[in-house]
Amino acid sequence: MSVSYESHTHDVVVIGAGGAGLRAAIEVSAQGLSVALVCKSLLGKAHTVMAEGGAAAALGNVDPQDGWQTHFKDTMKGGKFLNNWRMAELHAKQAPDRIRELELWGAVFDRTKDGKISQRAFGGHTYKRLAHVGDRTGLEMIRTLQDKGVHSGIDIFMECTISKLLQDGDGRVNGAFGYWRESGRFINFNAKAVILATGGTGKAWKVTSNSWEYTGDGQALAYHAGAELLDMEFIQFHPTGMVWPPGVRGLLVTEGVRGEGGILRNKDGERFMFKYLPESTRKTFAETEEEAKQWVEDTIANRPTTARRPPELSTRDNVALAIYTEVKEGRGTPHGGAFLDISYQDSERVKRKLPSMYHQFKELADVDITKAPMEVGPTMHYTMGGIRVNPETQMSNVPGLFAAGEVAAGLHGANRLGGNSLSDLVVFGRLAALGAVDFIQQNPAISTAGAEQLKAAAADILAPFERQGEGPYEIHRDLQDIMQNKVGIVRTEEDLKAAVAELDAIDKRIDCVAVDGSIQFNPGWHLAQDLRNMVVTAKATAKCALERRESRGGHTRLDYPGYCPELSKVNSIIKKGAGGNMEYCTSPLPEMPAELKKLFEEEKK
Ligand code: FUM
Repeated sequence: MSVSYESHTHDVVVIGAGGAGLRAAIEVSAQGLSVALVCKSLLGKAHTVMAEGGAAAALGNVDPQDGWQTHFKDTMKGGKFLNNWRMAELHAKQAPDRIRELELWGAVFDRTKDGKISQRAFGGHTYKRLAHVGDRTGLEMIRTLQDKGVHSGIDIFMECTISKLLQDGDGRVNGAFGYWRESGRFINFNAKAVILATGGTGKAWKVTSNSWEYTGDGQALAYHAGAELLDMEFIQFHPTGMVWPPGVRGLLVTEGVRGEGGILRNKDGERFMFKYLPESTRKTFAETEEEAKQWVEDTIANRPTTARRPPELSTRDNVALAIYTEVKEGRGTPHGGAFLDISYQDSERVKRKLPSMYHQFKELADVDITKAPMEVGPTMHYTMGGIRVNPETQMSNVPGLFAAGEVAAGLHGANRLGGNSLSDLVVFGRLAALGAVDFIQQNPAISTAGAEQLKAAAADILAPFERQGEGPYEIHRDLQDIMQNKVGIVRTEEDLKAAVAELDAIDKRIDCVAVDGSIQFNPGWHLAQDLRNMVVTAKATAKCALERRESRGGHTRLDYPGYCPELSKVNSIIKKGAGGNMEYCTSPLPEMPAELKKLFEEEKK
C-alpha cells in the first residue's frame, strides 16, 4: 500500500488548544520558534470553558493577607500532600503574573469597587482568591488566548486527530501523525519537540461535565511512546453537576454558586454539610447557620469579614462524597441529588454574578434559580493524574515530549482545588514552552520519521475498515458502565478487581472494532480511534485505584477508610512494559525542602 499524506515541519507541535495549549503555543512563538497548534475540535472549543467560576491566584485584591505561601499550603492540603511540592510552589508563585498578563491581553475580569481584578471564594482556598468573569471565566480566558494566539504567528490545524507520536531510534519524539476529521486524509508533522495539552479523560464515564473531545488522547499517546503516567486513580467528581433533565445530566453547575453563598440542603431541608466537615478543617468553617449567613452578608457588601466560611466551601472531594452519602441514605432530591439554593439573594445580583447558571437552568431545566433551588449531584469533572513531568521543564521521561494542563500530573495531588486548573494552564503552558525551547537549543539535530513508520501509522488508523465485527458505540457504552459503576466516587476491592478484568475484555474488543462507510465525515471511525485512548486511561485508573488501599482525596475506598501511612509516601506509576503489558509500580514522593515544610509548622504554633 502506498500512503499519501501532507507533511508540515515546525520546531514545536502543540497538541490540544485549550488554555494550556494556547498559552504554550504563544510562548513558543514569542521565543522565536515555529509552532503548529493542532486540535481535534474547533479552536476555542475546549474544556477550559468548563472552569467557570474563576482562576486561583494570590493577588490579594479582596483579602490582602493572601500570598503565594497560603496558596501553596492550600494546594498541598487540598491534594492531601501527594502533590509535587515544586509544581505547587511554582504555580502559587507564578499564577498572579499569568493572570495580570491575561488582563493585559484583553481579558475583562470583574472588578472590585476600587478597580482591581475581583476575587471570589472557592472550596479549600483560605482567602477570596479566584479572579473571575461572572461565571464565564474559562470562556473569557480562551477568548483572550485565542485572540492573542491568532496574532502570534501560530499555524493552526483544527479538526485534526493525532493518532501517533513519532520517535527516532533513541526514543526522542520527532513528530506526530494523524488525519483530518472532515476528509479523513492523513497529515504528518515533523517537529523537534511535541507539547501535549489534550486535557482529561471524562468520556470514559457516563456522567461527566466533559464534552466529546475528552478521551484521554494525550495520556494514551504518551503511554505508548514510553512515558510514565502518575496517580491515575485520582479522579475529581465535581460535587455539583445537573441531575435533571436526563439529557443534560452531568453538565457543570459552577462552584461559583457556593462561592457566592449557595446553600446545600437535602430533601428534608437539612443543611447537611455541617456534619461532613473533616475534623482537621472544622475550625476554619462557620459553626452555625447564623455565622455562615454573616459571611455571606459581608461577601455581598464587599467588606472584610471575621465570620468563618460556610461549610459548602469545603473541598470538592468532601462535598461530592457528602452529596453521594445523602442520596445513598435516602435523603436525596426527587432526581437523586441535593438542593443548591441561591434564590434567597437579590435576584439582580444572582443574575450578575452567575449569568450562565441563570440561563442554563432556565433554558435546560425550566428552573428560575432566582426563585427556586437547583438540583445537583456529582459529575466526573477532572483527571488529577496524568503524564509525569519534570516540574521545572514539563518534559516527560520521553525526550522531546512535554505536557501541560490536565493531561499532565503533579500539581493537584489527590484532589484539585477549584480554580487551580485555570491558573495551572497558563503557568505550566508557558513553562512547557520554555522547556521545549530550551530542549531544542540543547538538542538541535533531529531526524524525521521514515516512510515505513508512516505507513504503519496510517494502516493502524485504517484498520477498523478492514474488519468485520462489532461497532464502537456498544463498546463505548460498556466501558462507561464499568467506569461509572465500579470506578466511581466510592470504590471497593471487589468492584475494582472486576473492573480490571472487564476492561481487559474491552481492550480485546477494541482490537477487533469494525466500522463501515468512508473516511469522510465518519463519527463511528473517530470513536474507534478514541476508544483506544480511553481504554488506556480507564485501565490505568482502575489498576492504580485497586492498588491504593486507602481513602485519600478523590479516591474513596469503602474497604479502606482513612489514610495508609505507607501509601502517604508514594505516587502511583503506570507504564508500558517491555512485553506491551500495562505495569504498575510506586515512586517515593520528592522530599519537600525545609523552608517549605516550615510554612506548615508555623501554622501549627
Ligand atoms: O465550578 C467551576 O467553576 C469549575 C472550576 C474548576 O474546575 O476549576
